[in-house]
Amino acid sequence: MKHIRIVQDLEAASRAAAERVVTLAGEAVRERGSFSVALGGGHTPRRLYELLATEHAGSVDWSRTRVFWGDERCVPPDHPESNYRMAREALLDHVPVPADRIHRVRGEAPPDAAAEEYAALLAEHLGVERPGVGDRLDLVLLGMGTDGHTASLFPGGAGLDAAVWAVAARAPEGVEPRDRVTLTLAALNASRHALFLVAGSAKADAVELALNGGPEDRPPAGRVEARKGTDWLLDRAAGGRQAADW
Ligand code: 6PG
Repeated sequence: MKHIRIVQDLEAASRAAAERVVTLAGEAVRERGSFSVALGGGHTPRRLYELLATEHAGSVDWSRTRVFWGDERCVPPDHPESNYRMAREALLDHVPVPADRIHRVRGEAPPDAAAEEYAALLAEHLGVERPGVGDRLDLVLLGMGTDGHTASLFPGGAGLDAAVWAVAARAPEGVEPRDRVTLTLAALNASRHALFLVAGSAKADAVELALNGGPEDRPPAGRVEARKGTDWLLDRAAGGRQAADW
């Protein structure tokens, strides 16, 4: 079930997303004693992470939170393009998630090896070899590119049909860094909840295709259907053509 919410701008969308994360984290800890979340990358979620690290820092039980990433660029962890580095600077350096509950992708390793290692790590922590059976991530935080990619699931790319947790992927020509590791579509769809945070008029066409495109036209972001719900938090520039129902 997809839910769409349209707010004025990225600040309002980030604030709404932070409230949603706090709600889902509380539910997970109450019901299962822990909260597992895959963080999104790129630029959009930075403000969300800053809000979780400041205004909402006291509203999440960080000691019971386990952090993964939806995707990573194959760069070292201190590289300016590292999704791990962005999340560490904006959030993880400021909240007490135990170090052994932070599971970054080893972007410094060769892509295939890093993907295999990450798939094994997810299997270990979620207790199943492949997504969809047994335990699952509570929440995946996602963005979307202007081509409708999400995580590093690009149109026609790796990971869209794989039944494993994570694969190596390549961004299209001109999208740097090209080498990536990404959770697969199966892994995203095995999660309990997905939350998209998308802003900017450049993404409005991709939002339209993701939410209303036919099976042939729907980009990877439009194929994400998490088990208990997929929330789309859009600013007016990206979501102006959509009807809100949340
Ligand atoms: C990545 C992200 C990717 C991102 C989109 C949007 O590693 O790049 O996981 O899916 O969410 O490319 O990126 P922006 O937020 O920078 O527009």
